[in-house]
Amino acid sequence: MRQSLVVGNWKMNGSIQRNQSLLDSLKENIKSVQHAQVGICAPFVYLRQMSELLKGTQIGWGAQNISHKDSGAFTGEVAASMLLDFDCKYVIIGHSECRNLYGESDQLVAEKYAKAQSVGLIPILCVGELLEQREAGETENVVGQQLDAIINLQGIASLSQSVIAYEPVWAIGTGKTATPQQAQDVHAFIRQRIAKQNAGVAENVQILYGGSVNGSNAAQLFSMPDIDGGLIGGASLKANEFLTICQAAQ
Ligand code: 13P
Repeated sequence: MRQSLVVGNWKMNGSIQRNQSLLDSLKENIKSVQHAQVGICAPFVYLRQMSELLKGTQIGWGAQNISHKDSGAFTGEVAASMLLDFDCKYVIIGHSECRNLYGESDQLVAEKYAKAQSVGLIPILCVGELLEQREAGETENVVGQQLDAIINLQGIASLSQSVIAYEPVWAIGTGKTATPQQAQDVHAFIRQRIAKQNAGVAENVQILYGGSVNGSNAAQLFSMPDIDGGLIGGASLKANEFLTICQAAQ
C-alpha cells in the first residue's frame, strides 16, 4: 500500500526569519499528521537552517535542483553530494520552471535524476504538459517522453527509489487547478506506462499532483485512486494552509 506524501516547494521564497516562524508553526502542529509523509524543498542557502530546525521531526527536507556534474568548474551550480552535508532526503528534478525558463531538456533532467540517485537522494521527478500541448491532444506524448528519458538512462527499477510529480504547466501558480478527473487520467496513464515494464514498481511508486493545490481542493484531488499526495507551491508558504493539505492526504 502506498503512503501519501505532501511536499512543499518553496521555490525562490523565504528569509531566515520567515522560515523560522513558518517551520515553528509547522513543527507544533505536524503531529496531527500521522498517516502521511511530509517534506519541504527549500532554496539551497536555507538547507542548514532546515537541518537545524527539522532534525528529529517527521518532516523530511531537500533542495529544488542540482547539477548534472559531480564537481569542478561549474560556477553557480550545486552538486548532489553537497546536499548530503545538510542531511537532505529529497531533491526536485525537472521542475517545469527549470525546463521552460532555463531550457532543461529531457536528457539533462535524466542526468540530474541519475546524479541524485547516485548519492542516495530521492528525486522528485516533475513531468507535465504546456497548455498548448494539452489543447493539441499531446499530453500523453509529452509526459510519456519525459518519463521515457528517465527509464532509458536509469532503468525502470530506478523509479522505485523516486517520486513522480505530475504538474500540468497551465495549473502552476495560476489558480487554475486540474480537475480531479483530469489529474487522475494522467496519473493512471503514468502508472500504466510503468506497469507495462514492471508491475511491482508501478504499484509502489508515489505519484504526486502539483498545480494550484490549496486547502480547499486538496481532499478531492487526493481521493483519486492514482493520486498519492501533492507537490505544493504557493500554499506551502502558509503554515495553516499547508497543514490542511497534509491532513487531507491522510
Ligand atoms: P503552485 O502550487 O503555486 O501552483 O505551484 C505548484 C508547483 O510548481 C510545485 O512544484
